[in-house]
Amino acid sequence: MRYTFAVALVCVVAAVAVVGHVGGSAIASIRAGAGPAKTARGLYLATVMGCSDCHTPLKMTPTGPEPDATRLLAGHPEQIGALPRSTPHGAWPVSAAATNTAFSGPWGVSYAANLTPDQNTGLGIWTEEMFIQALRTGKHMGTSRPIVPPMPCPAYRHATDEDLQAIYAYPHSRAQ
Ligand code: HEC
Repeated sequence: MRYTFAVALVCVVAAVAVVGHVGGSAIASIRAGAGPAKTARGLYLATVMGCSDCHTPLKMTPTGPEPDATRLLAGHPEQIGALPRSTPHGAWPVSAAATNTAFSGPWGVSYAANLTPDQNTGLGIWTEEMFIQALRTGKHMGTSRPIVPPMPCPAYRHATDEDLQAIYAYPHSRAQ
């Protein structure tokens, strides 16, 4: 239960951090990569389901933090390094990096994954089946270790196969 609370908490933080920016230049640049109806639907779903909130690092600008359009869905930038662990007990058990891509809480430290089609660091070698099973079961590649918060698998597992297929197709379409 407390994980659910923590997920909700971090989602609120994420929403506050990027509100007003999701329709901005970052999304405009992904729109350019969306072609057929399926990938356009994938872009739409990824946008309204907030994938970019955690999987695209924020960068500071004169008007406040904005998603870094050069790192769209690329996950936590490794150059930033490791996030120190937060105190697991007490009133403030969760902390996050300024990029909103690294999180510490009772589950440990988690780093938003690279969702681009990169073969080594992204989802390049993932099949559609692995992707759908990962979001349904909350397990890496659908069979391996548990995917920990704040990745909202408890919510996303209710998406239809068709919607998850579209979300899978969208970033892969950007490789072409
Ligand atoms: C509130 C933040 C947040 C949101 C929103 C979010 N993610 Fe995540 N996601 C994460 C974090 C953090 C991880 C890493 C968890 C871990 O390492 O166990 C992750 C992991 C994943 C993984 C597993 C990667 C792997 O190697 O196992 C996939 C796939 C994924 N996210 C896809 C998505 C998609 C698609 C969306 C939108 C529909 C989305 N995420 C929205 C934070 C988020």
